[in-house]
Amino acid sequence: MKYMTTAEIRESFLHYFEEKGCLRMPSSSLIPDDPSLLLTSAGMVQFKPYFLQQKQLDPAYIGTTTVQKCVRTNDIDIIGTTGRHLSFFEMLGNFSFGAYFKKEMCAWALDYSVNVLGLDKDRLYFTVFVDDDETIEIWKSLGVPEDHISRLGEEDNFWRAGPTGPCGPCSELYYDQGEEFGCGKPTCGPGCDCDRYLEYWNCVFTQYDGQEDGTLVPLPKKNIDTGMGLERIAAILQGVQSNYETDVLRSLVAVGERLSSISYGSDPKADLSLRIIADHSRSITFMISDGILPSNEGRGYVLRHLLRRAVMKAQIIGIHGTFLNDYVDEIVRLMGHVYPEIVENRELARRVILSEEERFGKTLKNGQAYLEEALAELEGDVLSGEVAFTLHDTYGFPIEVTREIAEERGVGIDSEGFLRLMEEQRERARQANTKDTEAAWSTYGGIHAQLRAELGATRFYGYDTTAGEATVTAIVRDGERVENVVAGEVAEVILDATPFYGEMGGEIGDTGLFESTNMRAYVLDTQLPEAGLYAHSVRVEEGEITVGDTIHVAVDAHRRASIERNHTATHILHASLRKVLGDHVRQAGSYVGPDRLRFDFTHFEAMTPEQIDEVERIANNVIMEATPTTIYETSLSEARSNGVTALFGEKYGERVRVVAAGEFSQELCGGCHVRNTSEIGFVKIISESSVGANLRRIEAVTSYGALSYINKVEAELKETAAELRVPIFDVSERTAANLKTLKEIQTKSKRLKEAVSDDGVNALLGMVQDAKAGYPVIITSTDIRDMSGFRNSWDIIRARMDRPGAVVLASVQDGKPVLFAAGTDEAVAAGFNAGAIVKAIAYAIGGGGGGKPTMAQAGGKNAAGIDEALEKAREILL
Ligand code: SER
Repeated sequence: MKYMTTAEIRESFLHYFEEKGCLRMPSSSLIPDDPSLLLTSAGMVQFKPYFLQQKQLDPAYIGTTTVQKCVRTNDIDIIGTTGRHLSFFEMLGNFSFGAYFKKEMCAWALDYSVNVLGLDKDRLYFTVFVDDDETIEIWKSLGVPEDHISRLGEEDNFWRAGPTGPCGPCSELYYDQGEEFGCGKPTCGPGCDCDRYLEYWNCVFTQYDGQEDGTLVPLPKKNIDTGMGLERIAAILQGVQSNYETDVLRSLVAVGERLSSISYGSDPKADLSLRIIADHSRSITFMISDGILPSNEGRGYVLRHLLRRAVMKAQIIGIHGTFLNDYVDEIVRLMGHVYPEIVENRELARRVILSEEERFGKTLKNGQAYLEEALAELEGDVLSGEVAFTLHDTYGFPIEVTREIAEERGVGIDSEGFLRLMEEQRERARQANTKDTEAAWSTYGGIHAQLRAELGATRFYGYDTTAGEATVTAIVRDGERVENVVAGEVAEVILDATPFYGEMGGEIGDTGLFESTNMRAYVLDTQLPEAGLYAHSVRVEEGEITVGDTIHVAVDAHRRASIERNHTATHILHASLRKVLGDHVRQAGSYVGPDRLRFDFTHFEAMTPEQIDEVERIANNVIMEATPTTIYETSLSEARSNGVTALFGEKYGERVRVVAAGEFSQELCGGCHVRNTSEIGFVKIISESSVGANLRRIEAVTSYGALSYINKVEAELKETAAELRVPIFDVSERTAANLKTLKEIQTKSKRLKEAVSDDGVNALLGMVQDAKAGYPVIITSTDIRDMSGFRNSWDIIRARMDRPGAVVLASVQDGKPVLFAAGTDEAVAAGFNAGAIVKAIAYAIGGGGGGKPTMAQAGGKNAAGIDEALEKAREILL
């Protein structure tokens, strides 16, 4: 046996089966294309359609080989307590869809184990399904001694992915780790719960399609589905006792050691936390990278539960606050070369985890205090369902977490009480919903439900046709059924069949015209107040409509065409967003009208202008390639196995309608679409914004809408360019320049304003003194900040002095002292000389200057000399 790293084993396995003629394929997403499964839990999941002959493998290959990321949480309580169980693991597999079967598979499994991995053949044990003599013979023919082969029953050696679907008997390979690992019981052997015989490879002979009623229908071909636990085989080859000591997981355990300053192996309780966080952090990182977000149901709940469990376990070893991103970084470093999606979605994972940790952190403390109090006050050893429910409902503690903490104190939980309260809560929610619905119905007085029951579903034929003849089957006016509706009135008209699309799935209802010889009415809207019941909201212009009339009905085809363009564009944008931002992008809502479209989707930050451009570019590419759209009906499972995008939270029947724009976009949809993407003309995204936590919205226009949008923008731009007197492409530069100038002017004007503010001038005027020569003079320091401020102030002061006078002013401007003197002609005639004064006093500020007798200025270096300069001026003038 040779030491091999996890990476070496992975590569050697894939290479071995590639050499045998298998096609190496990438791991599929953790979100399976399979409604019967919550998460991808085995390598075979992506190959179900091949086993069922719904998809064919290129005949150049005899099968496929993969390393599949898997998440299994059915034994979450055991994880960490043993070295073998993991919530996240990698499964090495090879799969045959009729080309090779047992004989080849057994031979290769033995050859790979012994000759490539170098496992000691004497330590290998083999189990087969009870009645599978054929496989026993095969193992024997390969030189396996009889006492190394045992038969096990359904539980161990018949493999199923779920209650239904491809399944079959299997043969498992075990490695004997040695007596010291064993339980010592006489019954100990492969399949025993102890650690001695480690199952490392499961070879399933997938021969049946399990039915709902439990019967096994033979599959058309005999298939192979094998799964080898990468972490388990790594533990064997690396000579360690548990998965957590293999190279990859040990590095993650080390992250916890660093954060907690506790060495692995020093305390069994701490070890448990270190192992659980190492394991859960991989599930968390990989799940988010595949587009799963924390929520309160489905796989989002599994994710939230794993994350919260990791956070709680971290507390035990003294890791507080947010810390999981350290694990993300290490996981990306260790595994990013195999799974590019974790590299691509690293930031997404980091951010989702951080915000979830922060959210949980807030309630955690309060919840813990609440639980501690409840435990302290507890009489007996069972925690009430009320406490568990409050912890769940108010503090966000998954019930499993509460149970674990309680169990650590030797306390159980009244699960029944908890479940009863949960059910009561659900019932309350249901009633609230029903009330809303009832309130809505009361406005219709239940009339639509009656109509639907009486008339049946309206036949809709409007996907390809927009006009036809119809019979009026009912009319509703002001909530009442009436026999007719006359000119000037508005009413709802029900027909036996209609080409009008009723608002559904984001696409708004059609409008149009009803006509007969003496009647003309506008259809203002079409709605489906009851599933299958098309209600046309109509305003009669001429004549009247009577129940039983046969009328000509015509959708506003021009408007409908615009809606179709926007609807197909919505699908294309959806696929483009996923390409650019990642598979976490999910539709959360949409509006498709004739003039524009709106698309809401999951994403965590504002899109950058580059991303918006890229989405627009990709979408327009699909449009300009003139891709034909295809619309077909199929079964839900078929659609899913073909990778058709289903919308979150939508309920679909067994028969579904698929709308495809070539290979680029395939969505389940009941709406109206163009026949070729070129009809869309082009698409322009006009806004991107936030509409809630983790939700973004784009708005876009297409075809004529896009053209009129662009024209409008261009007209604005032209007008602006004309105002600015520049070509349109210089508008931005000129505007920036103008803004800069404007800013400068504003700053200047602000300063000026300050210089000549009323208060300032009044204060100066209050300082008037009489000069020796009799004219009034103001000698003072000010906070005027520049020369124009002085001049401006002087203009105002001279106008407001009761007699013609003079000023000698000082201030500090940009740190330098400045002197300013000015006088009216009268003051000059009386002997005032601004130039002479400035000259005479400037020495005090360490500078010089001069000017005319009516106005002069001086600058200096020594601001501290201002007082002396002014004192000197006073001496001279007063
Ligand atoms: N599907 C089988 C398993 O998961 C073998 O790949 O064990």
